[in-house]
Amino acid sequence: MKRDFLTVWDLSESEIEHLIKRAIQLKSGVDRNKCPLLGKSIGMIFHKPSTRTRVSFEVGIYQLGAQPIYLNSVDLQLGRGESISDTAKVLSRYLSAMVIRTYNHSTIEEFAKYFSGVVINGLSDEHHPCQAIADMMTIYEYKGVLKGVKLAYVGDGNNVANSLIEASAKTGVNITIACPEGFEPNKDVLNRAKQYISKKEIFTEIKILHDPEEAVSEADVIYTDVWVSMGQEQESRIRRSKFKNFQINERLLRLAKKDTLVMHCLPAHRGEEITDEVMDGNNSIVFDQAENRLHSSKAILELLLSV
Ligand code: CP
Ligand code: NVA
Repeated sequence: MKRDFLTVWDLSESEIEHLIKRAIQLKSGVDRNKCPLLGKSIGMIFHKPSTRTRVSFEVGIYQLGAQPIYLNSVDLQLGRGESISDTAKVLSRYLSAMVIRTYNHSTIEEFAKYFSGVVINGLSDEHHPCQAIADMMTIYEYKGVLKGVKLAYVGDGNNVANSLIEASAKTGVNITIACPEGFEPNKDVLNRAKQYISKKEIFTEIKILHDPEEAVSEADVIYTDVWVSMGQEQESRIRRSKFKNFQINERLLRLAKKDTLVMHCLPAHRGEEITDEVMDGNNSIVFDQAENRLHSSKAILELLLSV
């Protein structure tokens, strides 16, 4: 049976652990010359802009021996009204997998229903699971462990926050979200994650706060993302005013542990959710995090396609 990766829930805890360790192994350069996906073609449909997801997947697919085909949605007949289901059925005849970035998560689910190959979510309004795997890999690289690590996400309860909550629940990371009232993560994501951790033997915590200072005080890792996600441009003004006290700056960092790590999925809006000083400072690991998108994407492709 084909395996899709639409949300973090599609992977078991041991698969996530495997992905992290395999991504670190791939990063070391072992297996550099192996091409486990030789002869396969993998499509990439993007309805939103992308730098990291697009390039890391294209390079990763090539390095694994397969052919990446970037499909700008306006160039496809999809842009002229061909249905998702017909597109998926036709592309099933050519492609082994598809990476999709779109608005409504249900679009990816519908595509996956009619596509016979593997579907990977390259970001939807609700989820960004590939990012969360790269993030867990990055935390593991720096801390040598995930269970018990305290992660404070300061900002919008958006797609990135949702997937981080799910990945934290799976890996035993204790996550605190500090967001303005009304910008909490998705309720269903939170309920499912809370239910999941309640059955775990190891204590794992998910907290939602509205005070960034309280959130960062004990954090091993501080994480942020943009205040205005792709597709929310019409809310820019109101969002910027609601989030103005949720900036990761030197003052906030001084309230955290000296060696706390600072992460951002990027692209950053420097001067909004994060200052230049923090983004370019000693605590920041944002560019290692970005690099890890490549290694973790390769591990994801290998896991889902080398069967
Ligand atoms: N972090 C991330 O997904 O970046 P892109 O939007 O550049 O792909
Ligand atoms: N929350 C951001 C993430 C970009 C990688 C967005 O959806 O625009």
